[in-house]
Amino acid sequence: MFDPSLIKKDFPIFSRNVNGKPLVYLDSGATSQKPGIVLDAEREYYEKHNANVHRGAHTLGDEATAMLALARSVVAKFVGGRESEIIFVRNTTEAINLVAYAWGLDNLRTGDVILSTEMEHHANLVPWQQVAERTGAKIELAKVTSGGLLDLEDYARKLKLKPKLVTMAHVSNALGTVNPVKEMTKMAHGVGAVVLIDGAQAVPHMRVNVTDLGCDFYAFSGHKMLGPMGIGVLWGKKEILTKMSPFLTGGGMINEVYPDHSTWTDLPDKFEAGTPNVAGAVGLMAAIEYLETLGMEQVGRHDREMVAYAISKLEKVDKVKLLGPVNAELRSGSVGFEYMGVHAHDVATVLDSEGVAIRSGHHCTMVLHKSLGLAASVRASFNVYTTTDDIDALISALDKVKKVFGK
Ligand SMILES: Cc1ncc(COP(=O)(O)O)c(C=O)c1O
Repeated sequence: MFDPSLIKKDFPIFSRNVNGKPLVYLDSGATSQKPGIVLDAEREYYEKHNANVHRGAHTLGDEATAMLALARSVVAKFVGGRESEIIFVRNTTEAINLVAYAWGLDNLRTGDVILSTEMEHHANLVPWQQVAERTGAKIELAKVTSGGLLDLEDYARKLKLKPKLVTMAHVSNALGTVNPVKEMTKMAHGVGAVVLIDGAQAVPHMRVNVTDLGCDFYAFSGHKMLGPMGIGVLWGKKEILTKMSPFLTGGGMINEVYPDHSTWTDLPDKFEAGTPNVAGAVGLMAAIEYLETLGMEQVGRHDREMVAYAISKLEKVDKVKLLGPVNAELRSGSVGFEYMGVHAHDVATVLDSEGVAIRSGHHCTMVLHKSLGLAASVRASFNVYTTTDDIDALISALDKVKKVFGK
């Protein structure tokens, strides 16, 4: 049975107090906590197997190489891709930059359109601005409705501009909205666009199958899905990755090097210059095994239950104005809100004094916040260890905000 209060016991950090109160961690959208088996896997790697990879010179080197390969195959299976299509990077941000620089600079020209959305995290907007500046391409953003959904009519309208690249978040980090990415991908392919999905907030909470989605690139971070910081994944279609030039160059990704030029090795190494984060990949593999043991169906169900419970409680709190769709079935991972009359940072400070960790600010979505007419918002976000007690603790701590700031 899926019992988040038992699951919590697998996460050593929950044995600590914060400001004299048991930790209530509602900031998993920023980064998740890590179960003991992930910490153990990283430690064991360093204690027993640590060596550099791809060198073939000794036993430890072979073990480290085999562990990296195994981690890659576990990730590939988890998201329904091929091993050669899994590129290990540091995080979603690096994965998107890889596509922006290695694909974007070579394939975009003056006047070409990059279509994205108003709800993107800065990680999926700023790299495109950089590439647009260098190539002369233009950025168009599909609008978000007042109900916090992507405006699919506006999206369809902007597809008529025949964008070369279409990119969108699978799940919005600020609104929690789950976008219909499979349908959006099909529509984008209909006008000949290449499609990149930012899956940072989706992979931790739902079964993602890149082949079923039909997209060309899919990016996500290990640290938001119970894995370590410093390891992330870009999945890309082999046919496209093969044609692309490398992003970073140096050791580990070459075939032959001459004084004036070099040739590249095959996928995925062509995109993994330098020493890889083997311990991170091994930790990510342990996180995936942990999630698979819980069952992604159950993980998804629990996520929707927490979102629905948080909405049902928060909508009764005076001064709280919820952001994003009210229907929990259309969202995942988080509930954002505005506390009328009190700055989000002040709300966060009072909640922290009660041991409740939430996020405040623009959540790296300044364009979205501007379109919603907000400077900042508060976000409670969840993962497998989140309990209804955690959400009740948030609601009680919001009472203190009322007491401190009065009317
Ligand atoms: C939707 C989305 N995209 C991208 C990112 C960037 O992730 P990272 O900081 O791991 O690169 C985040 C992080 O919060 C996110 O929520």
